[in-house]
Amino acid sequence: MIELRDMKASDIPDIMQIEKECFNEPWITENFLYELRQQVAHNWVVLCDDKLCAYVCFWEIGSELHLNNIAVRKDVRRQGLAQRLLDKMIQYASDHHIKSITLEVSEQNQTAREFYSKQDFKQVGIRPHYYEYDLSNALILTKKLENV
Ligand SMILES: CC(C)(COP(=O)(O)OP(=O)(O)OC[C@H]1O[C@@H](n2cnc3c(N)ncnc32)[C@H](O)[C@@H]1OP(=O)(O)O)[C@@H](O)C(=O)NCCC(=O)NCCS
Repeated sequence: MIELRDMKASDIPDIMQIEKECFNEPWITENFLYELRQQVAHNWVVLCDDKLCAYVCFWEIGSELHLNNIAVRKDVRRQGLAQRLLDKMIQYASDHHIKSITLEVSEQNQTAREFYSKQDFKQVGIRPHYYEYDLSNALILTKKLENV
């Protein structure tokens, strides 16, 4: 069974396991605690049969959502979980007159780029050598929403 709910501080140990398997520069526990304290932040998790299997962190800034983090546990990828999180964000955006979703993705992250491309995100900018790990560029992607 799949359940989507707000993130809690007690989820962070499970999140950290996924975070470490997903990223070269993983967030640390304090980053998630910080997100949980921010008024502009929304943090959601997906549970698969009661086990944490995906999460998303984004900020609501004016009429824009900024996606700061999204990850899915390796063993449950390609099952539509990230899509489900994004669909829920789009529903939230539609309910709150949000005009766009923006994010940064490493130029080297082909999987995420495929995912965002399928969701109709378009490149609107580039931040050269943004990632400390390999100095790769960050692509700035935006999805315009039509529901406003
Ligand atoms: C990117 C990520 C979040 C996608 O999660 P996911 O749950 O596996 O994605 P979904 O199953 O919802 O995929 C939806 C669509 O995205 C595309 N996609 C996802 N993974 C893909 C891959 N490995 N190769 C090609 N296309 C892919 C496909 O079009 C897919 O639809 P399909 O399965 O019907 O072909 C996941 O791979 C991940 O956690 N990666 C590591 C963390 C990360 O890079 N986060 C993004 C940081 S900017």
